[in-house]
This record gives sequence, structure tokens and C-alpha cells, in this order.
Amino acid sequence: MSASTVDSGGGGIQGRGIVKTFKARGNVLAGSTVQALRGVDFQIPAGGAASFIGESGCGKTTLGRILAGLEDYDAGTLSVNGVDLTSLPKRKRDPYFRRIQMIHQDPYSALNPTRTVDAILTDPLTLRARQTGRPKSWIAKRQREVLSLVGLEPEYVLSRYPHQLSGGMRQRVVIARALTVDPEALVADEAVSMIDVSLRLGILRLLRELRETVGVSVLFITHDVATARYIGADGDLYVIYRGEIIERGPTETIIANPVHPYTQCLLSAIPVLHGLEVPGADRLTPTEPLADTQSDAGCLFAARCPFATDRCRTERPELAHHGDTAQLHACFYPEQRQVVAVSA
Ligand SMILES: Nc1ncnc2c1ncn2[C@@H]1O[C@H](COP(=O)(O)OP(=O)(O)OP(=O)(O)O)[C@@H](O)[C@H]1O
Ligand code: SF4
Ligand SMILES: [Mg+2]
Repeated sequence: MSASTVDSGGGGIQGRGIVKTFKARGNVLAGSTVQALRGVDFQIPAGGAASFIGESGCGKTTLGRILAGLEDYDAGTLSVNGVDLTSLPKRKRDPYFRRIQMIHQDPYSALNPTRTVDAILTDPLTLRARQTGRPKSWIAKRQREVLSLVGLEPEYVLSRYPHQLSGGMRQRVVIARALTVDPEALVADEAVSMIDVSLRLGILRLLRELRETVGVSVLFITHDVATARYIGADGDLYVIYRGEIIERGPTETIIANPVHPYTQCLLSAIPVLHGLEVPGADRLTPTEPLADTQSDAGCLFAARCPFATDRCRTERPELAHHGDTAQLHACFYPEQRQVVAVSA
């Protein structure tokens, strides 16, 4: 087993070497391709959490969509509870994908504005009742159960339309709808970024609680380190750059002790609480902005890295363990730097 592969241990969701290439959009890049994912390995334990962070366009949503069966992948393998979906015919694969539900950032566009919450939940529950041989009376009971699980009062929300609810309530309805299929995993893609700040923590807390109450795994996709830290505190954090995992390990370890210069740049950008914190002494910024035309030769971060050498520009570093720790990085010159803010 290479350092970058992960052991499935039987349960949970595992990806190995997931590759996805798109035809580039727009006139300037017409005819070229975008490598959205370049051989990504990951593991989400059953009932566990994993977070993916990285800047815009690094491939986070593509990975989430692949997991939820909304996008095909070009190469690699994906397995759920030890079953390799890649080798299954579509008909047998789809039921697995249906149990991996995506929670998008905009709860309003995810819900049909012309239907009440009652109707929104009745459709998938009717299907579920048919699939599992349950009587019709089960549907109304389960409707109330899933609403209670997400902290909504059934009597208040069932007759209402999405526009009559707050953003936080709408996102809870989206999560309740996802629970109707007894999901294996929720893929939360920037799930709180469009919700009023005052309601965000409640949604994040709910996602954390659901891992315990219904045993669902959560893959959290974000470019906000603080939310990744909250939701995935006991899981792994994956730092993704231009479709490649460049650092990975226990969330707290990566945040407190990143060794890859890109992770260090990301963490250096977190605002400092004035009067309470001072910036880390070694804060870094990339030497260049991200560009569509950056070279694929050598380390993918070389054009922007303050520490790049000639070797970095020609040779690609592989994801490898940092010493004998659970932390992995893809850098020839990993080094601890004090980038996160410290108490004043
Ligand atoms: N359907 C598509 N056709 C062409 N290119 C695509 C398509 N979907 C994604 N891409 C490209 O693949 C890359 C990864 O996109 P993706 O949406 O996964 O990034 P992201 O990390 O989710 O970004 P953001 O933080 O902005 O949501 C980007 O370069 C994007 O332009
Ligand atoms: S391999 Fe070189 S260019 Fe890449 S992150 Fe490390 S020091 Fe920077
Ligand atoms: Mg995205």
C-alpha cells in the first residue's frame, strides 16, 4: 500500500485514485481540458467526518458530485461499505448513490417553491415506503420523525412553502429530505455559506449531532477553515489544490501544525481577532495569484510557492507520511511554521 492510499477497514466510503477531467468552458480556454481531480484518495469512516478545504476551483464540488452519483469519474475506484461501485452495473450502483445525499449551499434553489414542506417530504417517503414494504401510514409518522431530527416543529412547517421559512429552516428541510432515504452519508457543500451568520452555528451543530443520532457520515466541503474545524474536529482534514490532495491528517493536527506551504498560505489568510490575537510569526502569502494557465510540470504549487526550487519545477512530490505521524503532505521541503494566530 502506498503512503497515499488508505485502508477501507470494511465500513464507510472510500475513494482511490479518483480522476475527473472536463472540457474547459469559455472562449479563451476552448479546446483545452481542466483536470478537476487528479487521483484523489480519501476515506470517510461510517458515522465519521472528513472535511475538504481549498480555494475556488480546486475540485471540491466535483468530488462531492461524484460521491453523490451526480457526476461520473474517469478513473479510480469508489467503494461503500466494502462494495466497489466502479465494477457494478448502473442499475446496481444507483441505490448506493441514492444513500449519499448532497446538501447544497443554496437551500432555496434546492427546494421546489411551489410545493409545501409536506409535499416535499411525501414524495421521497412514498418511494421509500414502496422500496421497504412499509404501509402508507408510516409516511406521515416518518415525516414527523425526520422533521424532529432536524429540529423543526412539524405542525409549524408542514403546511408552509419554502419562501415562508427562514434560510436556516429551509436548510433544515433540505437535510430532513435527505434523511428520508436513510442516508449513508451527507455531502455538505458550503452548506452554511448562504445562511444568515446568526443561524450558521445551529446548522453546523445539527450536522454534528446527526452523526451520532442517525449514524450518518458527513463529508464537509468548504473554503472556511473555522467551519471545517468545528464539523470535522474528530475526522481528517484534506487540503486540496488544483485537483490534488497536498496535505491530509487529523483536523486539529493540520490546523495547528501544517507543514505544506499551500496549507500554510490558506491558514495565514484567516483574519486575526484584534486585541485578542496576534498573527503567527511565519505567515505566508503565495507569490502569485492563481491562474488558469499555471503549469502542470513539477509541483502544482511551484509557480506560487515562496520556497520553490528547480527540483520543485520539474518533479512532482508524492503524498507521503510526515515522519511516522498520521499527517501526510506532498512537498519536498515540509517545514513547521507558525502561521495560525496566537493569543495576544
Ligand atoms: N461541468 C463542468 N464543465 C467544465 N468545467 C468544469 C465543470 N465543473 C467544474 N469544472 C471545472 O473544474 C474545476 C473544479 O471545479 P469545482 O466546482 O469542483 O471547484 P470548487 O472547489 O467546488 O470551487 P468553488 O469553491 O468555487 O465552489 C474548475 O476549474 C471548474 O471550472
Ligand atoms: S514541493 Fe517545492 S514548490 Fe511544492 S510546495 Fe513544496 S517547496 Fe513549494
Ligand atoms: Mg464548489
